[in-house]
Amino acid sequence: MNNQNTNQQTADQVQTYFHKEAGDFDSIYSGKTSPLMRLLNRWLRHDIYLRYEMTIAECANDKGKRILDIGCGSGRYCHELAARGAGKCIGIDFAQNMLDLANDFAKRRGVSDRCEFLLGQYLDVKLDQPCDVAVAMGYFDYIPNCVDHLKKMRADAREKLITIFPVAGTFRAFVRKIRLGARGCPVFFFTPEQIDDLLKQSGWRKTRIERVGQLWFVVAVPA
Ligand SMILES: C[S@@+](CC[C@H](N)C(=O)[O-])C[C@H]1O[C@@H](n2cnc3c(N)ncnc32)[C@H](O)[C@@H]1O
Repeated sequence: MNNQNTNQQTADQVQTYFHKEAGDFDSIYSGKTSPLMRLLNRWLRHDIYLRYEMTIAECANDKGKRILDIGCGSGRYCHELAARGAGKCIGIDFAQNMLDLANDFAKRRGVSDRCEFLLGQYLDVKLDQPCDVAVAMGYFDYIPNCVDHLKKMRADAREKLITIFPVAGTFRAFVRKIRLGARGCPVFFFTPEQIDDLLKQSGWRKTRIERVGQLWFVVAVPA
C-alpha cells in the first residue's frame, strides 16, 4: 500500500472511532460517566485537564483574535476561548457526532455567534481567511504524516501554534497503543528530537516544550 492509501486508511479508522466514541470522549469534560470512570479520568488522564488549562492560559492575551482549533472534538476549547473574548473560534473535525456536541454546547453556553464548526478532514478544509492562533490538542496522536498537517497549520495561522504530542517510549504509551489498536484506532508517539525536526521541516520555531504527564506541550511561532 502506498503512503497516500495508508494515510487515508488511518484517517478513516480515526474518524470512525471518534464518531462512535464522541459521548464517551466528552465525558472527560462533562463528568457524565460512572463514579469509577470519573476517578480513573482524574488519575490516568489528568494531563488532558492540564493541557486544557495551559492552552487557555497561553491564549490569555489573544482577545479579539481568530482561533483555529484543529481536531476540535466536542469544541470545549472553542467554547471557553470564545467566552473569554476570542473574536472568532473555528473548529474543524471529521467526526459528525463530535461536531453535533460542539454546536449543541456552543448554543447552551451562548457563544454560537463566535464559534463556527466545520466538518471535514483538516487537509481538505480551505479557510476563507487565515487565523491568528492554531490549537491542536490530542490531534497528532492520530496523524502518521505530521509535516503536511503542520505546514497547513503554518499557512492557516499567522502568529502561534499551541499543540501536544504524546510521549514515546513509556509503558503507558505501549498500553495505549494496544488498547486503541484493539478498537481499530491507530495512535502515534513522539520524542522531543522528532518534534523539533517536524516543526523545523514545516516552518515553525519552537518557543516552549514541556512534559506534562504522557504528553509534550508545545508552543511554536513562524520561523
Ligand atoms: C482526542 S480528540 C481531541 C478533541 C479536542 N481537541 C480535545 O482535546 O478536547 C481528537 C479529535 O481529532 C479529530 N481528528 C483527528 N484527525 C483529524 C483530521 N485529519 N481531520 C479532522 N479531524 C481529525 C477526531 O475526530 C477527534 O474528534
